[in-house]
Amino acid sequence: MAVARAKYISMDMSTAEDWQKYRANEGDRRRAQALRLTAMLKDLRHADDTAPIDTFSHSLQSATLAYRDGRDDETVFMTLFHDIGTLVSDDAHADVSAAILKPYLSEKNYWIVKHHGIFQGYYYFQYFDENRNMRDEYSHSPHYDECIAWCDKYDQRAFSSQYISKPLDFFQPLIDKILLGGFDRI
Ligand SMILES: [Fe+2]
Ligand SMILES: [Fe+2]
Repeated sequence: MAVARAKYISMDMSTAEDWQKYRANEGDRRRAQALRLTAMLKDLRHADDTAPIDTFSHSLQSATLAYRDGRDDETVFMTLFHDIGTLVSDDAHADVSAAILKPYLSEKNYWIVKHHGIFQGYYYFQYFDENRNMRDEYSHSPHYDECIAWCDKYDQRAFSSQYISKPLDFFQPLIDKILLGGFDRI
């Protein structure tokens, strides 16, 4: 359905009525954003990669490990989406994922997503002649231990082609709950 657009050509000409319409439209925007984010997640199937399994399968496996470990919904959600930034960057993927997920995450989970690239480096930076303990720069952080544990339990060990992950449909109610934030009931 077409949206009734405001008529201003510069923002200094906008009116209270325009912004009232904008606020009233939030539910539609949130639903469209949730669909786009889910589509991005599915697109990780096509990411060019030499890893043992594609990044979409890795993401489902990661989230399933977190779910089966009894983690809360937000942690399962962030685990599912933690590599979404690989759609646009390798080296900066953790920063990109964190920026995309920021509106939906606690400060702690945002920090873990943002830093997981360096923490994962513990498992392979030595093969690039880099310091695998680069994560120790962050040892003062209150989230340091938890980021190590998250990488160990859910990220670095989610590359098995034999593991039976939950399908995306299983996670859809949780995705909707977090991305729509109540707008699904409008
Ligand atoms: Fe990653
Ligand atoms: Fe990952």
